[in-house]
Amino acid sequence: MPATVIVGAQWGDEGKGKIVDLLAQHSDLVCRYQGGPNAGHTIVTDGETYKLRHMPSGILAGKQCVLGAGCVVDPEVFVEELDELESRGISTEPVRLSGNAHLIMPWHVAIDGATERRLGKLQIGTTRRGIGPCYADKAARLGIRVQDLLDPKILRQKIEVALAEKNVWLERVYGTEPLELEEVVERSEGYARRLRPYVADTSLIVDRALRKGSTILLEGAQGTLLDLDHGTYPFVTSSNPVASAAATGIGIGPNRIDAVIGVAKAYLTRVGEGPFPTEIAGPDGERVREAGHEFGTVTGRLRRCGWLDLVALRFAVRVNGITALALTKLDILSAFAELPVCTHYRLPDGTVTEDFPAHQSDFHHALPVYETLPGWEAPLDAVSDLAELPPPARGYVEFVERSLGVEVCLVGTGAERERVLAQREPAALARP
Ligand code: GDP
Ligand code: IMO
Ligand code: MG
Repeated sequence: MPATVIVGAQWGDEGKGKIVDLLAQHSDLVCRYQGGPNAGHTIVTDGETYKLRHMPSGILAGKQCVLGAGCVVDPEVFVEELDELESRGISTEPVRLSGNAHLIMPWHVAIDGATERRLGKLQIGTTRRGIGPCYADKAARLGIRVQDLLDPKILRQKIEVALAEKNVWLERVYGTEPLELEEVVERSEGYARRLRPYVADTSLIVDRALRKGSTILLEGAQGTLLDLDHGTYPFVTSSNPVASAAATGIGIGPNRIDAVIGVAKAYLTRVGEGPFPTEIAGPDGERVREAGHEFGTVTGRLRRCGWLDLVALRFAVRVNGITALALTKLDILSAFAELPVCTHYRLPDGTVTEDFPAHQSDFHHALPVYETLPGWEAPLDAVSDLAELPPPARGYVEFVERSLGVEVCLVGTGAERERVLAQREPAALARP
């Protein structure tokens, strides 16, 4: 019963979509366990580019796909995504959505935007998709769930109760327009008709698949440093991307998970606000951004770029229990003669540490200590085997392995599905 978690080991956008799509070719079932349309997973295959928001990245491989109870779903985005995939000849028939997942309602999107505007300079830099307000209502037990769509009477009643309160906030606190009850009910009923065939007991589906011995991928959105409990709070998302949340998010026991593959870029990016010790100031940052096309999938915002941070990656290995690492976008570093890699932080009291600081002020003021590795300054396009990498590129990968004590099982050398160098056959990785 092999179940493997694929988790973002940095601040998101590590290339999880590509790695999940690759391993999905050798799997039976792919499950998203948290997050919502704040995610943007780009997959390039057969000359086509797909940008997935809600859909598990197994959809292009035609595999059964599940969105678990830990996800939040914007029905408008979900339906748009279904339509787009179908119009491009991708069947969405194998998709199933947990009735326990929470719905992102129009007031969540409105409040997310209004809160950010009100925070001004202190804003988090959210994707403004309503993620935080939706998870907050879930925790406050005021949320509307996917299963509420199945009963028109309950749906209307829940919208009525929620709007009575949310409109007061929208008008009196945020000074924005209230939402019209009948309009929201009518739109939601439309989505209900469309979503009904997809709603299922997804925990049961996954359990049965595990008992049958199917190969299962549990796909995280966002990344470890954006985790609500373990990330760089408050500059985080409102769910738990870390690997152990796959069990709660899907509704299986933690003992059903066999392996955890962390996905990390060979450098580092971050979208939104918050501290970033290895952020590259000046023209080199711009060069990384241009070479790596580092612009947000969801919002189009510039991604902040930095050098690889092994202190942060060591932390990701720890909190996720990462058993192997997929290192993506090594090709982007071909542009540089020298490659600084952060091995330690220097803290305000002068301490030098390889451990991620537990206290926020230490992290905010941490200075990166770099080891500079030689670049290879050659394209990796023609490389088809790890052994063929230019020696400095091979050295870069081995430096990461040695520093973290974790095998790098996959190396990304381009956006396309085929552009990956594997330590072992991907089929063996999907079935640990
Ligand atoms: P995700 O959110 O973790 O799935 O990552 P994104 O899709 O937001 O961002 C990763 C970007 O890098 C996408 O545009 C991918 O197509 C691209 N990508 C993934 N792996 C590689 C790689 O090894 N090399 C290059 N050049 N691009 C890659
Ligand atoms: P994928 O799955 C990168 C960031 C936002 C912001 C913070 C909170 O593509 O890796 P939110 O809208 O979640 O309340 O925003 O989290 N963020 C991401 N950054 N990749 C993502 O997803 C992200 N999802 C959220 O930029 O800083
Ligand atoms: Mg992304």
